[in-house]
Amino acid sequence: MIEKIQTLLQRVEAFAPQTAAEIEEFRIKVLGKKGELTALMEEFKSVAPELKRELGQKLNHLKSAALERINTLKGELEEKQMAQSSEVGDMSRPGSAEGLGSRHPISLVKNQIVEIFSRLGYTVAEGPEIEDDWHVFSALNFPPEHPARDMQDTFFIEKQPDILLRTHTSSIQVRTMEHQKPPIRVICPGRVFRNEAISYRAHCIFHQVEGLYIDKGVSFADMKQSLLYFAKELFGESATIRMRPSYFPFTEPSAEVDVSCNLCGGKGCNVCKGTGWLEIMGCGMVDPNVLTANGIDPKEYSGFAFGMGVERIAMLKYGVKDLRLYFENDVRFLHQFDSAL
Ligand code: PHE
Repeated sequence: MIEKIQTLLQRVEAFAPQTAAEIEEFRIKVLGKKGELTALMEEFKSVAPELKRELGQKLNHLKSAALERINTLKGELEEKQMAQSSEVGDMSRPGSAEGLGSRHPISLVKNQIVEIFSRLGYTVAEGPEIEDDWHVFSALNFPPEHPARDMQDTFFIEKQPDILLRTHTSSIQVRTMEHQKPPIRVICPGRVFRNEAISYRAHCIFHQVEGLYIDKGVSFADMKQSLLYFAKELFGESATIRMRPSYFPFTEPSAEVDVSCNLCGGKGCNVCKGTGWLEIMGCGMVDPNVLTANGIDPKEYSGFAFGMGVERIAMLKYGVKDLRLYFENDVRFLHQFDSAL
């Protein structure tokens, strides 16, 4: 019997399987109910008492050696398989989720404004941020030394000749009139720059969308209807507008457009400062001087123009109280717009 124990121990120690199935087969053959070790245990019951001690120890050693060997072999095989699978990548594993970014609220609102006007037949025009005096001021009827230039504190890059950062995207409208004959119907989104102290309601960089429509017989009534349509599309069917007389060098007559406050429904709240109205843009009939300066005959053509600040519209739409939030890129702020269009 000692010999049997010895050979089995040797076989256990020499056992070198390739697969998990081989290990399992070996385990059953040795340790299973009808296995070799079990048979030896049976045989042990009938050995002479003086041999029991020695044989018992040997059997116990065989049993634990067999168990240990099987467990180590299993572990080694698993490790090998894992290493192999990570080399080629486990194609059946579910993919790791990619965190998707979202659009900035300014882009969301700008896109929406552009989309509404494109439904009215406007096409998008763009232009440079670094401009000259002609495209930002002179072609728009700002006379030299006229105080109107002070309305928009300008960042100058060079004084002689005047190279500056555009203060409004009306410069794009001038560039459009330069190379396009009426009818003209353009919408001009873009970044603008003004030398202003940064606060919760003002910034030195902001975004505008301006529009220009020139054709034969364009009237103030056309402008009013277009802007009313725009306000309803942006703020909802119940929105109404009102126009207050205003002044811009490039339009005559000019108006400031207010939309009924969408937060209180016009009753008056702290956002509309109790008035029931929110100012959203400037507009007016293109001044004949502007048409002439840009090679368009004011006797034949007329038109209207309008311009709005995207930050301001976004503040009203989303109830944002501090304009600086748009520029800080704090993800806690930006994530709130994840599900917006
Ligand atoms: N350009 C004006 C501004 O920046 C807005 C405006 C555009 C007003 C067109 C009237 C007509 O404030």
